[in-house]
Amino acid sequence: MNLHVLSIENLRKFCHLKWHDDIPDDGIAMGIADIDFKGPDGLVDFITTHLHEDMSFYGPYEGIPSAIEAGNQFLLSKGIPLSESKNLQIIPGTMMGIYLVLEWISRKLGEILMINPIYPPFINHAKQTCNTIKWLDLQIADEWHLNEEKLKENVNENIKLLVFNNPDNEVGIVFKEDEIRLISDLSEDYAFPCFVDELYEPLTFKKSNHISLASLENMQNRCFTLFGFPKAYGFAGWRSGFMHLAHPEFEAIKYIVEQILVAPSPVTSLVMEFALTSPKVFKWKIAFRDQMEHNTELVTRLLTENNIECVRPEGGFFVFPKIELEDYKFKKDLLINQGVEVVTGSEFGPAGKGFIRINCATSEERMEK
Ligand SMILES: Cc1ncc(COP(=O)(O)O)c(C=O)c1O
Repeated sequence: MNLHVLSIENLRKFCHLKWHDDIPDDGIAMGIADIDFKGPDGLVDFITTHLHEDMSFYGPYEGIPSAIEAGNQFLLSKGIPLSESKNLQIIPGTMMGIYLVLEWISRKLGEILMINPIYPPFINHAKQTCNTIKWLDLQIADEWHLNEEKLKENVNENIKLLVFNNPDNEVGIVFKEDEIRLISDLSEDYAFPCFVDELYEPLTFKKSNHISLASLENMQNRCFTLFGFPKAYGFAGWRSGFMHLAHPEFEAIKYIVEQILVAPSPVTSLVMEFALTSPKVFKWKIAFRDQMEHNTELVTRLLTENNIECVRPEGGFFVFPKIELEDYKFKKDLLINQGVEVVTGSEFGPAGKGFIRINCATSEERMEK
């Protein structure tokens, strides 16, 4: 299946976050995490066929039943057992799930252990909700994987939540089974819950194996997981995602959803149902993943051939090279002098300082330029 790369003219019209006004006319946007590809066909038809007038009332708090069923089937396919309770919540974008869990945990004493580099809203929401963050910095020397000793040193009775992304899309790693088991064992020993964003799970490359933390036996009562459709499924901007709440206090989080949303919009639910059930989306997702494997490999090779240190990604569509310079200044100079926008590594936590993030979800021609 061929993916359709959008023209720069169309990207400037529809993808304003990435292709914003500061990118010069002959410049290239490789910053913000949007993709330069058209998403799978058929979503608008699906929504218009399934959206009917009776949906003008508020539906169930967690979302419409057909989408919940699609979500449950997805969880089962990841080895995540379903509980009797309604612990799946559809949300208008994964970002809301980040806020919900961090708002809820802010009522408890203790520190959040945050594995970073991490998606910045985890940092921003944790701070805004007055949580204290304890950083666990991944290192390029460990190929961005967990250092067992360091993790054990940082875990204690004062940790109230462990937060991480898997894949850690920023640096492109997928945590291995022994790393996931180490996290789950520590979570059990020290009785803290875990919060994991698995949005980039479908972008795990062929040689890696993604294991959902919530699929482990000892995580059935101590794990919040986020899934969503803006990147790997190509439905950015439609605001659709869902969370799996495997924790005895899940009702407290659903209560915050009710106070903000009452119930998700039927469109949010329909996007989720289409994303998880359409064969067209399935085909697109595989083609996109393979293209991203090719693109990140190409950029990693170009960088390492030029003696720039970077680890070849195991998933996602970013490359995270070391630049040996002050990253904010480097980013600014690169945009002014070369017309290329990237993101500074510092935005993803202290471990990202001195690195930049390059978005490879574009055409080969644009990457080579
Ligand atoms: C790791 C991660 N989680 C969540 C999000 C936000 O997704 P959504 O658009 O579903 O709110 C992003 C977006 O870039 C992301 O990279």
